Amino acid sequence: MKILVIGSGGREHALVWKLARSPRVEALYCAPGNPGMGRNARCVPIKTDDLDELLEFAKRKAVDLTVVGPELPLTMGIVDRFKEAGLRIIGPSRGAAEVEASKAFSKSFMERHHIPTAHARIFDEPEPAIRYIKEHGAPIVVKVDGLAAGKGVIMAQDETEAILAVDLILRRKQFGEAGSRLLLEDLLDGEEATFLVFTDGKTVIPMVTSQDHKRVYDQDQGPNTGGMGAYSPAPVLTEALQLQVLREIVRPTVDGLAREGRPFQGILYVGLMLTTDGPKVLEYNARFGDPETQVILTRLETDLVDILEALESCRLDQIEVLWSPKVSVCVVLTAKGYPATYESGRPITGIDQAESKEGVVVFHAGTFLRDGELVTAGGRVLGVTAVGDDFQQARDRAYEAVSRIRFEGMHCRMDIALKGLTMKKGLR
Ligand code: AMP
Ligand code: GLY
Repeated sequence: MKILVIGSGGREHALVWKLARSPRVEALYCAPGNPGMGRNARCVPIKTDDLDELLEFAKRKAVDLTVVGPELPLTMGIVDRFKEAGLRIIGPSRGAAEVEASKAFSKSFMERHHIPTAHARIFDEPEPAIRYIKEHGAPIVVKVDGLAAGKGVIMAQDETEAILAVDLILRRKQFGEAGSRLLLEDLLDGEEATFLVFTDGKTVIPMVTSQDHKRVYDQDQGPNTGGMGAYSPAPVLTEALQLQVLREIVRPTVDGLAREGRPFQGILYVGLMLTTDGPKVLEYNARFGDPETQVILTRLETDLVDILEALESCRLDQIEVLWSPKVSVCVVLTAKGYPATYESGRPITGIDQAESKEGVVVFHAGTFLRDGELVTAGGRVLGVTAVGDDFQQARDRAYEAVSRIRFEGMHCRMDIALKGLTMKKGLR
């Protein structure tokens, strides 16, 4: 089979890495890819939002299956375009991707289908929003409706901060069109976890659980990022909780979207807050998570091509997905300044030494080959991922590998998966 992976981050490198291990793959392309993906696939310089060029390329190369990494092409309707052209592609339609594209849509959808989530109100004018903040009080969560690259959520500790956020979003249009509406949401308390599933719109196959680390500094300090590291499994999501999430959240989501005429066929990401009142949805994504994919796919034993093909042809009920019982840990290395303005163009060394350690694979995200030399080219630069028999071994291997890698201004959290280590119950 000829497969095209769209995207250029750590998540897409993990996808390419896994697909390259399939005996069924004869050609692997990525657009635009990165130097790490270039080891397993041919990179073609087409941007992820250039749907015309992507379609043209897939036709020209007679690509059998396209896998979409990031949300932007999904929300632009890439799946609809490819399917109209008779091409096979993995991901939800534009209509179904609305669960990620609009937080107002997903909130109303959850309310219609009684799916547990934080209570929220939707506003498109500043005055009523400010009145609501004064009635409600703080803390309160202000959320931009549209896509905001992980920067559209403000957890306001007091009313002034919340009002300032409303002003920036609705009056000053800091987020452009994405911020023409906003949500004012109750703050939820608890532990966060990620629950990803494969679904063909009818059958749901859960992936192993995982947990991201959103804040830039140890002990969850500092601003939110795209994700500083992940581990799988997430022991906090016990077997019983997983069944509850499937029953009360995933099943009603998949069925509800189908009933509303926008069946979801693809990878559904449910970001959860495990509250004392049960699991609640923080957000949906219409795609694999980053860096969750790095730890999930390193535990996947079944051929990913078989799963994706079954998903695409609505035969997921006929497939069994097997996972390794091992633990996987991914430590993200970031450039100086991230998540604000960051440096780039710094030479990177030590990846080969890191990968010579048992169980270690280094996924590239923001890297670039400059005259044959690997340099940094993004906020999140690398995802050092290690599999081990338990949390201790996976963590030790990951950090030992990290210690081999160098670039100027390199930063990583030192506490990735510590929570997993101290909470080993309910492993899966
Ligand atoms: P979202 O993009 O909606 O997942 O929000 C990004 C991050 O903000 C989440 O991963 C949480 O850490 C935090 N967050 C979002 N909504 C809430 C909420 N209602 N209560 C507490 N934290 C939240
Ligand atoms: N790790 C969070 C995300 O992929 O959205």
